[in-house]
Amino acid sequence: MTNDPDWIAFFKWALPQLRMRWAGFRKVRGQVQKRLYRRLQLLSLADPGAYRDYLRQHPGEWRILDSLCRITISRFYRDQGIYALLAAQIMPDLAKQAERDRQAALRIWSVGCASGEEPYSVAILWGLQLEQRFPDTELLILATDTDRHLLGRARKACYPYSSLKDLPPAWRAAAFTDSADGYCLQRTLMQPVLFVEHDVRTPVPTTFLHLILCRNLVYTYYERDLQQEITARLHAALRPGGILVLGSHETLPPGVAGFTPLPYGRWIYQKQPSVDAEPG
Ligand SMILES: C[S@@+](CC[C@H](N)C(=O)[O-])C[C@H]1O[C@@H](n2cnc3c(N)ncnc32)[C@H](O)[C@@H]1O
Repeated sequence: MTNDPDWIAFFKWALPQLRMRWAGFRKVRGQVQKRLYRRLQLLSLADPGAYRDYLRQHPGEWRILDSLCRITISRFYRDQGIYALLAAQIMPDLAKQAERDRQAALRIWSVGCASGEEPYSVAILWGLQLEQRFPDTELLILATDTDRHLLGRARKACYPYSSLKDLPPAWRAAAFTDSADGYCLQRTLMQPVLFVEHDVRTPVPTTFLHLILCRNLVYTYYERDLQQEITARLHAALRPGGILVLGSHETLPPGVAGFTPLPYGRWIYQKQPSVDAEPG
């Protein structure tokens, strides 16, 4: 295997050309490095320097490199505090608002949804904790990712135990059936989630959203300018008063207008309500 310093130099050269930032990859680069090592073997290239030359001569290879740079780690109920806050405060408030505004559905978008762990966590907390309080409100979750393979796994909704270990045990027991394929989610809890292939760097696939979860992707791996462009699109996709949730170690870049940080943590923001919105 090639020396780590050679790979670091490669990443520092290549990532900015993909509008990604080295700082985000530093800790997790092992996963990408393994994939690139296999790619080099396939192309019979000796080291990252040779791959650099190959990229210069074959511009189409950049698209493949982009796909090899995806970090795909996820699990149910990741960052438990965020889900506890969604269940106790954010989703009930949004559902009450939807009721007041006579909106039949609570509309949510999970950006970079991996194998469904994030959108299904929201569907589980709604189904097991909130649905009975809001019987007239339908939950609709659009879940998008660029990785077709992950979306295929998401639609099957069967997982190893390691994906579920952060879920409260009572929820795990109520939401999943243990089977030969792993722990499979109950059909009724799958129903609110629609999986669609979509690249977050392209125009948004939906609007009039109450809540967007954009965690552990844009604000970790992308460069600032791209973060700002995407944030403007997410802002436009939310309803006034809608909520944007980032990963627990993420924050919006400077220079973004129209969002107010909420007092729970620096990873949760509200789109400013419209001036003519009804008071609280
Ligand atoms: C680190 S995982 C985060 C999953 C989940 N949001 C969470 O926080 O647990 C990042 C996900 O984003 C997806 N992804 C990477 N690039 C993407 C892009 N340009 N557009 C949409 N999804 C992307 C990856 O395939 C992966 O599933």
